[in-house]
Amino acid sequence: MTNAIKIAPSILSADFARLGEEVRAIDEAGADWIHVDVMDGHFVPNITIGPDVVKALRPHSDKPFDVHLMIEPCDPFLEAFAAAGADGITVHAEGTTHLDRSLQAVRALGKKAGVSLNPATPESAIEYVLDKLDLILVMTVNPGFGGQSFLTAQLEKIRRIRAMVGDRPIDIQVDGGINTQTAAAVAQAGANVLAAGSSVFAGGTPASYRENIAALRAAAGAERTAA
Ligand code: DX5
Ligand code: ZN
Repeated sequence: MTNAIKIAPSILSADFARLGEEVRAIDEAGADWIHVDVMDGHFVPNITIGPDVVKALRPHSDKPFDVHLMIEPCDPFLEAFAAAGADGITVHAEGTTHLDRSLQAVRALGKKAGVSLNPATPESAIEYVLDKLDLILVMTVNPGFGGQSFLTAQLEKIRRIRAMVGDRPIDIQVDGGINTQTAAAVAQAGANVLAAGSSVFAGGTPASYRENIAALRAAAGAERTAA
Protein backbone atom coordinates (compact mmCIF):
# COMPACT_ATOMS: atom_id res chain seq x y z
CA MET A 1 0.00 0.00 0.00
CA THR A 2 1.21 3.49 -0.77
CA ASN A 3 2.43 5.42 2.03
CA ALA A 4 2.99 8.90 3.25
CA ILE A 5 0.62 11.77 2.54
CA LYS A 6 1.65 14.01 -0.34
CA ILE A 7 0.37 17.56 -0.77
CA ALA A 8 -0.05 18.80 -4.34
CA PRO A 9 -0.98 22.50 -4.40
CA SER A 10 -3.06 23.39 -7.45
CA ILE A 11 -1.66 26.47 -9.17
CA LEU A 12 -5.18 27.23 -10.41
CA SER A 13 -5.52 29.29 -7.23
CA ALA A 14 -2.16 31.07 -7.68
CA ASP A 15 -1.74 34.63 -8.93
CA PHE A 16 -1.52 33.98 -12.68
CA ALA A 17 0.36 37.26 -13.19
CA ARG A 18 3.20 35.88 -11.03
CA LEU A 19 3.04 32.15 -11.78
CA GLY A 20 6.77 31.39 -11.69
CA GLU A 21 7.16 33.12 -8.36
CA GLU A 22 4.10 31.31 -6.99
CA VAL A 23 5.49 27.92 -8.05
CA ARG A 24 8.76 28.72 -6.29
CA ALA A 25 6.84 29.80 -3.21
CA ILE A 26 4.81 26.58 -2.88
CA ASP A 27 7.92 24.51 -3.59
CA GLU A 28 9.76 26.26 -0.74
CA ALA A 29 6.65 26.05 1.45
CA GLY A 30 6.80 22.25 1.41
CA ALA A 31 4.69 21.11 -1.55
CA ASP A 32 5.42 17.52 -2.58
CA TRP A 33 4.10 17.88 -6.12
CA ILE A 34 3.00 20.85 -8.24
CA HIS A 35 -0.56 20.22 -9.48
CA VAL A 36 -1.25 21.81 -12.87
CA ASP A 37 -4.87 22.06 -14.01
CA VAL A 38 -5.29 22.09 -17.78
CA MET A 39 -8.79 23.01 -19.02
CA ASP A 40 -10.04 23.31 -22.57
CA GLY A 41 -13.44 25.05 -22.42
CA HIS A 42 -14.97 21.90 -23.93
CA PHE A 43 -14.54 19.00 -21.50
CA VAL A 44 -14.97 21.52 -18.66
CA PRO A 45 -16.54 24.98 -18.72
CA ASN A 46 -13.29 26.87 -18.18
CA ILE A 47 -9.98 27.48 -19.98
CA THR A 48 -6.59 27.60 -18.26
CA ILE A 49 -3.15 26.85 -19.58
CA GLY A 50 -1.34 24.75 -22.17
CA PRO A 51 2.04 23.07 -22.64
CA ASP A 52 3.92 26.33 -23.26
CA VAL A 53 3.05 27.55 -19.78
CA VAL A 54 4.10 24.22 -18.25
CA LYS A 55 7.40 24.53 -20.09
CA ALA A 56 7.89 28.09 -18.86
CA LEU A 57 7.22 27.02 -15.26
CA ARG A 58 9.46 23.96 -15.37
CA PRO A 59 12.69 25.75 -14.35
CA HIS A 60 10.99 27.18 -11.25
CA SER A 61 10.80 23.89 -9.32
CA ASP A 62 12.44 20.48 -9.19
CA LYS A 63 9.34 18.93 -7.61
CA PRO A 64 7.24 16.57 -9.75
CA PHE A 65 4.78 18.32 -12.06
CA ASP A 66 1.43 16.55 -11.68
CA VAL A 67 -0.49 17.54 -14.80
CA HIS A 68 -4.26 17.07 -14.63
CA LEU A 69 -5.71 17.16 -18.13
CA MET A 70 -9.35 18.21 -18.23
CA ILE A 71 -9.39 18.14 -22.01
CA GLU A 72 -11.15 16.09 -24.65
CA PRO A 73 -9.68 14.51 -26.63
CA CYS A 74 -6.48 14.15 -24.62
CA ASP A 75 -4.42 11.90 -26.88
CA PRO A 76 -3.27 14.58 -29.36
CA PHE A 77 -1.72 16.61 -26.51
CA LEU A 78 0.04 13.95 -24.42
CA GLU A 79 3.35 14.30 -26.19
CA ALA A 80 3.38 18.10 -25.86
CA PHE A 81 2.78 17.96 -22.10
CA ALA A 82 5.43 15.26 -21.69
CA ALA A 83 7.94 17.36 -23.65
CA ALA A 84 7.00 20.43 -21.61
CA GLY A 85 8.18 18.71 -18.44
CA ALA A 86 5.23 16.88 -16.88
CA ASP A 87 6.27 14.03 -14.58
CA GLY A 88 2.81 12.57 -14.26
CA ILE A 89 -0.06 12.99 -16.69
CA THR A 90 -3.61 12.33 -15.56
CA VAL A 91 -6.36 11.92 -18.13
CA HIS A 92 -10.08 11.73 -17.48
CA ALA A 93 -11.79 8.40 -18.06
CA GLU A 94 -14.66 10.44 -19.57
CA GLY A 95 -12.31 12.45 -21.80
CA THR A 96 -10.92 9.65 -23.92
CA THR A 97 -12.71 7.02 -25.98
CA HIS A 98 -9.93 4.46 -25.53
CA LEU A 99 -8.71 4.84 -21.97
CA ASP A 100 -6.42 1.81 -22.14
CA ARG A 101 -4.67 3.26 -25.19
CA SER A 102 -4.30 6.72 -23.61
CA LEU A 103 -2.69 5.22 -20.50
CA GLN A 104 -0.30 3.17 -22.61
CA ALA A 105 0.62 6.32 -24.51
CA VAL A 106 1.47 8.19 -21.29
CA ARG A 107 3.71 5.37 -20.09
CA ALA A 108 5.33 5.07 -23.51
CA LEU A 109 6.35 8.72 -23.11
CA GLY A 110 8.11 7.71 -19.89
CA LYS A 111 5.61 9.49 -17.62
CA LYS A 112 3.50 8.30 -14.70
CA ALA A 113 0.01 7.51 -15.90
CA GLY A 114 -3.02 8.72 -13.98
CA VAL A 115 -6.73 8.44 -14.55
CA SER A 116 -9.33 10.78 -13.10
CA LEU A 117 -12.98 10.02 -12.41
CA ASN A 118 -15.69 12.69 -12.33
CA PRO A 119 -18.03 12.54 -9.33
CA ALA A 120 -20.73 10.65 -11.27
CA THR A 121 -18.33 8.09 -12.77
CA PRO A 122 -18.20 4.76 -10.92
CA GLU A 123 -14.93 3.08 -9.99
CA SER A 124 -15.80 0.19 -12.31
CA ALA A 125 -14.57 2.42 -15.19
CA ILE A 126 -10.98 1.59 -14.22
CA GLU A 127 -11.32 -2.04 -13.18
CA TYR A 128 -9.58 -3.35 -16.30
CA VAL A 129 -6.76 -0.82 -16.53
CA LEU A 130 -5.33 -1.12 -13.02
CA ASP A 131 -2.09 -2.62 -14.34
CA LYS A 132 -1.51 0.47 -16.48
CA LEU A 133 -1.98 3.02 -13.71
CA ASP A 134 0.33 4.88 -11.37
CA LEU A 135 -2.36 7.16 -9.95
CA ILE A 136 -6.13 7.32 -9.58
CA LEU A 137 -7.61 10.79 -9.09
CA VAL A 138 -11.05 10.88 -7.49
CA MET A 139 -12.65 14.26 -8.26
CA THR A 140 -14.31 15.49 -5.11
CA VAL A 141 -15.96 18.38 -7.00
CA ASN A 142 -17.13 18.65 -10.59
CA PRO A 143 -14.02 19.73 -12.50
CA GLY A 144 -13.73 23.23 -13.89
CA PHE A 145 -13.25 25.65 -11.03
CA GLY A 146 -11.45 26.10 -7.75
CA GLY A 147 -13.25 26.97 -4.55
CA GLN A 148 -16.18 24.54 -4.78
CA SER A 149 -17.59 22.46 -1.94
CA PHE A 150 -16.43 18.91 -1.30
CA LEU A 151 -18.86 16.19 -2.40
CA THR A 152 -19.19 13.80 0.54
CA ALA A 153 -20.52 10.91 -1.56
CA GLN A 154 -17.01 10.53 -3.02
CA LEU A 155 -15.71 9.14 0.28
CA GLU A 156 -17.36 5.81 -0.46
CA LYS A 157 -15.76 5.77 -3.92
CA ILE A 158 -12.33 6.39 -2.37
CA ARG A 159 -12.87 3.48 0.03
CA ARG A 160 -13.91 1.17 -2.81
CA ILE A 161 -10.92 2.20 -4.91
CA ARG A 162 -8.55 1.68 -1.99
CA ALA A 163 -9.89 -1.87 -1.67
CA MET A 164 -9.72 -2.44 -5.44
CA VAL A 165 -6.09 -1.27 -5.62
CA GLY A 166 -4.94 -3.67 -2.89
CA ASP A 167 -1.15 -3.97 -2.81
CA ARG A 168 -0.53 -2.34 -6.17
CA PRO A 169 1.81 0.69 -6.05
CA ILE A 170 -0.90 3.13 -7.13
CA ASP A 171 -1.38 6.56 -5.57
CA ILE A 172 -4.95 7.59 -4.74
CA GLN A 173 -5.41 11.33 -5.19
CA VAL A 174 -8.32 13.61 -4.37
CA ASP A 175 -8.97 17.02 -5.89
CA GLY A 176 -11.59 19.64 -5.04
CA GLY A 177 -12.73 21.17 -1.78
CA ILE A 178 -9.80 19.80 0.20
CA ASN A 179 -9.21 21.71 3.44
CA THR A 180 -8.21 20.71 6.95
CA GLN A 181 -11.64 19.18 7.65
CA THR A 182 -12.04 17.18 4.45
CA ALA A 183 -8.34 16.18 4.43
CA ALA A 184 -8.94 14.04 7.47
CA ALA A 185 -11.95 12.32 5.92
CA VAL A 186 -10.27 11.53 2.59
CA ALA A 187 -7.14 10.23 4.28
CA GLN A 188 -9.24 7.98 6.47
CA ALA A 189 -11.03 6.69 3.37
CA GLY A 190 -7.67 5.81 1.78
CA ALA A 191 -6.41 8.77 -0.27
CA ASN A 192 -2.69 9.56 -0.01
CA VAL A 193 -2.25 12.50 -2.42
CA LEU A 194 -4.17 15.71 -1.75
CA ALA A 195 -4.52 18.31 -4.53
CA ALA A 196 -5.66 21.60 -3.05
CA GLY A 197 -5.97 25.08 -4.49
CA SER A 198 -7.84 27.60 -2.39
CA SER A 199 -6.88 26.12 0.97
CA VAL A 200 -3.15 26.25 0.11
CA PHE A 201 -3.13 29.70 -1.50
CA ALA A 202 -5.31 31.30 1.20
CA GLY A 203 -3.51 34.29 2.70
CA GLY A 204 -1.53 35.00 -0.46
CA THR A 205 1.95 34.99 1.12
CA PRO A 206 4.75 32.38 1.21
CA ALA A 207 4.42 32.21 5.00
CA SER A 208 0.70 31.42 4.76
CA TYR A 209 1.37 28.77 2.09
CA ARG A 210 3.78 27.04 4.45
CA GLU A 211 1.27 27.09 7.29
CA ASN A 212 -1.55 25.89 5.05
CA ILE A 213 0.45 22.98 3.62
CA ALA A 214 1.61 21.93 7.08
CA ALA A 215 -1.96 22.11 8.40
CA LEU A 216 -3.28 19.91 5.57
CA ARG A 217 -0.49 17.39 6.06
CA ALA A 218 -1.10 17.27 9.80
CA ALA A 219 -4.87 16.84 9.40
CA ALA A 220 -4.47 14.05 6.86
CA GLY A 221 -1.50 12.41 8.58
CA ALA A 222 -3.22 12.21 11.94
CA GLU A 223 -6.11 10.33 10.37
CA ARG A 224 -3.86 7.88 8.64
CA THR A 225 -1.98 7.14 11.85
CA ALA A 226 -5.30 6.65 13.62
CA ALA A 227 -6.74 4.46 10.86
C1 DX5 B 1 -10.85 21.61 -10.36
C2 DX5 B 1 -9.35 21.40 -10.33
C3 DX5 B 1 -8.79 21.47 -8.98
C4 DX5 B 1 -8.98 22.79 -8.30
C5 DX5 B 1 -9.18 22.54 -6.84
O1 DX5 B 1 -11.34 21.32 -11.61
O2 DX5 B 1 -9.02 20.14 -10.88
O3 DX5 B 1 -7.42 21.10 -8.97
O4 DX5 B 1 -7.91 23.67 -8.46
O5 DX5 B 1 -9.45 23.75 -6.22
P1 DX5 B 1 -9.93 23.82 -4.72
O6 DX5 B 1 -8.89 23.17 -3.88
O7 DX5 B 1 -10.03 25.28 -4.48
O8 DX5 B 1 -11.26 23.11 -4.64
ZN1 ZN C 1 -6.90 19.29 -10.59
